[in-house]
Amino acid sequence: MAMENTIVVALFLTTLVVLNVSVPTATADNIEKKDICSKIPATKVGLWGGNEGSVMDIPEPPKHLESVTIISNYSINAIEFSYIDQTGQRRSAGRWGGPGGTAHKIDLAPSEIAREISGTYNMFDGETCLTSFKLFTNTRTWGLWAEENGTPFSITEPTGTSIVGFFARGGRYLDAIGVYLNKL
Ligand SMILES: *[C@@H]1O[C@H](CO)[C@@H](O)[C@H](O)[C@H]1NC(C)=O
Repeated sequence: MAMENTIVVALFLTTLVVLNVSVPTATADNIEKKDICSKIPATKVGLWGGNEGSVMDIPEPPKHLESVTIISNYSINAIEFSYIDQTGQRRSAGRWGGPGGTAHKIDLAPSEIAREISGTYNMFDGETCLTSFKLFTNTRTWGLWAEENGTPFSITEPTGTSIVGFFARGGRYLDAIGVYLNKL
């Protein structure tokens, strides 16, 4: 028994030594990899709104926001947007939400950066959804769409980042919204 334990301990120590030898040291190679990782941003912040509907998201992290369409009436019916992904591909997302409403589209200038969204959410027509929405860029304010009522929310981008895309919950209306932040 004592002999077996000794063997087990010896094997264990040998394994540690082997593992220790194979632990990579900080070479220029893995420092660069770490740096690339830190450039894959697309931090998700949110959601704000209700818990109904289904999760709506994009399959790849966005890099630059090109346009946003808010479809509204007495509340926010839906959202659509287009963006450039991390590989440089132009993509579109939505319509997330339900039918009806009037579309309001903003095309961002190439140098224009989305800095903040704000709005309210409340029970509307039997569903908790966004009841108003506003977008601030570095050059203009867009909205307010629908009617402010209920719980207010807002997200202002931390310094050195911009809002580059959205994720959401969609039902008969736009139930909830969150943002993707990317480093400038
Ligand atoms: C806005 O809502 C009202 C009341 O539900 C509805 O009658 C009208 O058709 C809606 N308008 C649009 C453009 O969806």
